[in-house]
Formats: sequence, C-alpha cells, structure tokens
Amino acid sequence: MLERAMILVLSLSMIEASIHTHPFARFEKTNIIDYKCDKSWIIEIFETRNIYNCGLKCNEFADCRRFLFCETKSKCKLYLDGTDCILRGDATGCHCFKKLISCNGTKITCPWGFYGDNCEHIAKDCEDANSRGMTSHQSVVTRIKPLEAPAFDVWCWLKIPTSVTILNRYQQCSTEDFNRTLQEYEQGFGIVPWDNWLGFDKTLQVINSQKSLKLHVHFTANDWKKCSIYYNDFNLGNASTQYRFQTTSNYETDSRPTCGDSITGSNNTLDLRGRPFSTYDQDETSNGCAAQFGGGWWFADHPNCTDGFLTAKEYSENFWKNSFWGPNMKNKL
Ligand SMILES: *[C@@H]1O[C@H](CO)[C@@H](O)[C@H](O)[C@H]1NC(C)=O
Ligand SMILES: *[C@@H]1O[C@H](CO)[C@@H](O)[C@H](O)[C@H]1NC(C)=O
Ligand SMILES: *[C@@H]1O[C@H](CO)[C@@H](O)[C@H](O)[C@H]1NC(C)=O
Ligand SMILES: *[C@@H]1O[C@H](CO)[C@@H](O)[C@H](O)[C@H]1NC(C)=O
Ligand SMILES: *[C@@H]1O[C@H](CO)[C@@H](O)[C@H](O)[C@H]1NC(C)=O
Repeated sequence: MLERAMILVLSLSMIEASIHTHPFARFEKTNIIDYKCDKSWIIEIFETRNIYNCGLKCNEFADCRRFLFCETKSKCKLYLDGTDCILRGDATGCHCFKKLISCNGTKITCPWGFYGDNCEHIAKDCEDANSRGMTSHQSVVTRIKPLEAPAFDVWCWLKIPTSVTILNRYQQCSTEDFNRTLQEYEQGFGIVPWDNWLGFDKTLQVINSQKSLKLHVHFTANDWKKCSIYYNDFNLGNASTQYRFQTTSNYETDSRPTCGDSITGSNNTLDLRGRPFSTYDQDETSNGCAAQFGGGWWFADHPNCTDGFLTAKEYSENFWKNSFWGPNMKNKL
C-alpha cells in the first residue's frame, strides 16, 4: 500500500515574488524499496542537513520529480522521474518524496504524464505525454491513463514516441521472479523501470486503438553497444486466444551489427508466430515449456521450446540464441 499522506508542502515567498513568480511545491511521501541496483537518472547529489533544502532544490529544478534525503549521511539526491526510491540495505533515516506539482517562479512542473495548471490531467499514452513536453528526454517513467483503464506507470522510450515498453530486463540486477501464473502475466508485475512485465490487461488497453504495430526488441550491452530488431504487423490476441503472438511479415533491423532473429526461427521449427502464451499453470505446449524453463512465453510446440526467451529468470542459453554476440551475450548484458 502506498502511503498517501502528503507531509512536505513548501510554501515560500521570496521578497521579489510577484503574483506571476511565486515559487511553490507539493510533495508526497513515497516508499523506499530494497533492491539490488538502482538505474534511476540522478540530476544532482548534494549535502544538506535539512530535508527542506532538498525539497527547495527539487522545486528549483523543473526537471526534478523525486528526491531522496538521508539524515544520517546528510545527503540529498534529486531524480528525473519515478515514484519510489531504491536503496540497498538499511534505509533508516532516509525519506523518499515524489513531486506532485511545483513552480520555480516561471515554470509549473508535474510528474511525467500529468499536465494542466494543477497537474490534474493524465496523458492517455506515451505519445500523448510526449507531445506535452517529454521530448527532451530519452526515456522516463510516465503515468498514463488509457480511456478505459485506471492510470498506471510505464517506461516511455521516447526514441519512438508512440511506443510503450511491455517488458524490461536488467540482467545484472535481475531479482524478479518470472515463473508466474497466467493471471499474474495478465495483471503485470515487477517495478517500472527495473525488471518488469507490463501485463496483458494494460498492454491491450494501450494497443487497442492503434492500427499498425511493430514489436521492437532492443538490447543494450554493458559497454553501451546496442542493437534492435523489429517485427512488423505485430498483434496480440486477447484472452480468447491466450494472447496469441501475431506478426504476418518478417523482421527488419536498422542496427549494425544486427541483434539476430530468435523469434520467427531460422528453420520454422521454433517459430513463435501464431503461438499462444504459456505459463506453468496454463501451458499450451506438449513439453511443459513454461515450468521447464521457469517463465511465461509464447513457446513453440517443440521440445526445444524457443530460441528467444526474454522472461528467463537469468541469462539462459535460449535467452536470445541467434544473437550476433553469440555465447558472449551472457557477459554483455
Ligand atoms: C525554472 O525552471 C526552468 C526550466 O528548467 C528554468 O529555465 C528557469 O531558469 C527556472 N527558474 C528559476 C527561477 O529557477
Ligand atoms: C477477443 O477478440 C475477438 C476478435 O477480435 C473478439 O471477437 C472477442 O470478443 C474478444 N474476446 C474477449 C474476451 O475480449
Ligand atoms: C532445418 O530443417 C532441416 C530440414 O527440415 C533439418 O534437416 C535441419 O536439421 C534443421 N536445422 C535445424 C537447426 O533445426
Ligand atoms: C516454475 O514454477 C512451477 C510451479 O511452482 C514449478 O513446478 C517449476 O519447477 C518452476 N520452474 C523453474 C524452472 O523453476
Ligand atoms: C534442439 O536442441 C538440440 C540440442 O541443443 C539441437 O541439437 C537441435 O538442433 C535443436 N533443434 C532445433 C529445431 O532447434
């Protein structure tokens, strides 16, 4: 449960403040999560003994949407996005706050995805949020609210503003259990933007209205080398077809070297096209693929199950078998 009490309200008046340049901010206390590693984008770290200085600074920086203050270390960290803070180990004396609205005198800022004079509206998808001012950033945690669903956080990857991230993996930090039931795969799990699966319910809400879809698989290595592969005419069935994976045409890539294709299968034996989604409690294969490999996926009906298994708990042989990195991929991600 998220603690809803708002305890940090800064109401400042500067001597030169006029009606148009009145600095103010409202923050909400959020949670501190004990997690293996933090990939948050830090804007600034500085020393202060007073939590209010931390809030003031976050207000000053329009880009700051969240901060972490630790009394014992007299340290303040300002972040670009997100709701909760990640801290490994003992969090005694630390406090995490999310900015709900602020004005530094010239500019109103809302959490990503919110907009309006009082941050009262929520964007309906990443594209909508992007058109309201996220363009200067590569990717941020964003709140969206599709027409017929409650609001939720997604990782908006703004290189392609119309996209939505349905699965995020950080092999180095992976602690999430992907060996879950179909119901959990429907609802989604994990923490955005760390290891997480958005869930079929939310994914279908987001892609509902879109006519032409492309599935992107994108890898970034430790040394920042990247590759991408796109599956055209992608579509996702609903519950009645157990979320069938559909793409009519083949893949394409614009990266050099390419990622290689581990989904449509070089020999059509491990072609995942047209396959329903399998979990250990609702396996659609004759080989118990989901329980065997420990994750939900669109497994082929073949003893080898798949060559591309991005929900693997940790790096496995078949994580992305036809990668140009080959067996070295394990050391790369
Ligand atoms: C308020 O934030 C904007 C955008 O970051 C910045 O350009 C401006 O200088 C800031 N104003 C003050 C008074 O800090
Ligand atoms: C699933 O999709 C089919 C065809 O698009 C539609 O006829 C059916 O009503 C949908 N079922 C559910 C459970 O949403
Ligand atoms: C590809 O298919 C051919 C003929 O169906 C078969 O002989 C060969 O072993 C297959 N290769 C792989 C890697 O599955
Ligand atoms: C996945 O979970 C199921 C059910 O708990 C279990 O039977 C299976 O062994 C697990 N698979 C792996 C690889 O851990
Ligand atoms: C299945 O796996 C075995 C053992 O790794 C391999 O020899 C065989 O070529 C694989 N078949 C396919 C169709 O991938």
